[in-house]
Amino acid sequence: MTLTTDDPNLGPVVVSEEAIRDRTKELGARIAVDYAARPPLLVGVLKGAFVFMSDLARAIDLPVEFDFMAVASYGSSTRTSGVVRIVKDLDSDLTGRHVLVVEDIVDSGLTLAFLLRNLAARHPASLAVCALLVKELEPSVDELAYVGFRIPRDFVVGYGLDVAERYRNLSCVRRYDGPMSPG
Ligand code: IMP
Repeated sequence: MTLTTDDPNLGPVVVSEEAIRDRTKELGARIAVDYAARPPLLVGVLKGAFVFMSDLARAIDLPVEFDFMAVASYGSSTRTSGVVRIVKDLDSDLTGRHVLVVEDIVDSGLTLAFLLRNLAARHPASLAVCALLVKELEPSVDELAYVGFRIPRDFVVGYGLDVAERYRNLSCVRRYDGPMSPG
């Protein structure tokens, strides 16, 4: 059994491994300049952001710290309803911290809006977002300071993103054309 063969639903590459690598280095360098005087606490949103967070953090030449939270949305598995539940909360106190949220993908923006409201209430010194992927046509979010790629509104997998927990370990981002929740 291999990772990608025998799945006719796996579509073309949307963002290549090389493009992700180059863009992550650029974002990391920008973040290192912007946060030079105030090393950030990176807050990864599980599970999808774990691959990007790992590469991004190593591209930031600063003493960053890490924390993670996990959220689950009520409703169908592929469209968020906007009602989000915290499944795993942060370990750190955010008071006075410079928080940089690391997200895999912003689709409707509802998950991010919930997270930002929740985190802002914990009195960080600053709050910004670095998202690898943003689907086109979504309203811009002011806090989206760093964006890797704007992509079409297709469902995608890879580089942390899954369909029914598969394909998170693909090195690139690919379109997924099949039923959204196989199995
Ligand atoms: P939003 O609340 O609509 O912005 O959805 C954000 C969350 O939905 C992301 O953190 C992902 O977990 C999931 N998601 C949205 N679009 C995709 C996709 O194309 N592939 C995989 N997961 C996605």
